[in-house]
Amino acid sequence: MARKKVTIIGAGMTGGAMAERLIELDICDVVLQDDPQFAGTMHHGKALDESQAAVWRGFSTRISATDGWDDTADSDVVICTAGAPRKPGMSREELLNGNAEIVRVKIEAAAKVSPNAVLVVFSNPMDAMCHVAMKASGFPRERVIGQGGMLDSARYRYFVADAVGVSPLDVHGYVIGGHTDTTMVPVVSQTRVGGVPLTDLLPQDQIDALVARSMRGGAEIGELLKVGSAYYAPSAATIAMVKSVLLDQRRLMPCSVLHQGEYGINGVFSGTVCQLGEGGIQRTFELPLSDDEKSRVVAAAEATRAQVALLN
Ligand code: 2OP
Repeated sequence: MARKKVTIIGAGMTGGAMAERLIELDICDVVLQDDPQFAGTMHHGKALDESQAAVWRGFSTRISATDGWDDTADSDVVICTAGAPRKPGMSREELLNGNAEIVRVKIEAAAKVSPNAVLVVFSNPMDAMCHVAMKASGFPRERVIGQGGMLDSARYRYFVADAVGVSPLDVHGYVIGGHTDTTMVPVVSQTRVGGVPLTDLLPQDQIDALVARSMRGGAEIGELLKVGSAYYAPSAATIAMVKSVLLDQRRLMPCSVLHQGEYGINGVFSGTVCQLGEGGIQRTFELPLSDDEKSRVVAAAEATRAQVALLN
């Protein structure tokens, strides 16, 4: 049986952490792609270091690094982390045109040699970068997926779990809409803890506070780290998506997808719950939202549409 292959574009903190999580799953080979002009030989160092971890972590995944594209050919999944991370105090949106050019060049090259890959977009501003990736690759909507909602939902579920005093595994709740501090929509009305509505478990002011903290989740970590942005939860969120695709797990995950009528939205990437498995997005789910949540989800999509219009 041919081994599956995943390419990670960008070997910075996030790409490196993704590679580490992925190789330990032992389900595919991994190629770290980066540009010597920016990364020097760092990606080669990371790949060699991570390869040697196999002895004590017990995996047989092969991980290699490359400066070009030939070695990435025939990847089943390509993850794009390329581009600048936001600095403390900076919004994801401020990265728009700088990162768009990097993502365009990288995705064009990757898609040429891996025409059947599923693309997972991590680069920010993530929803707009999905548009760039879709155009550069020419791939259909099933094979271009943005990861933002996965990460935002991880933050939200953690804060809910912490407030209620239960395991995050038993909090079911989704953050949909846009992957920005102002346009993400934690769907409180549908959040359940062990089947019990969150609104029955916590007073409204406490829910409001944890929603606000979730929405600033990435900014809070950036301020604490001082350099760069979060990478532990981001890598966990992204690799869970990759695992669902490679193993055809059909997990329901909040991701950015080109909307085709969901919530009345058309032709723009935004977050909703997606079934991820072989071939990428197999189905989308529309959550039953309150009126307020629905109007914020629509506004999020319009904000992304406005950003896409600003792309050079
Ligand atoms: C975050 O929210 C980097 O967008 C990513 O931390």
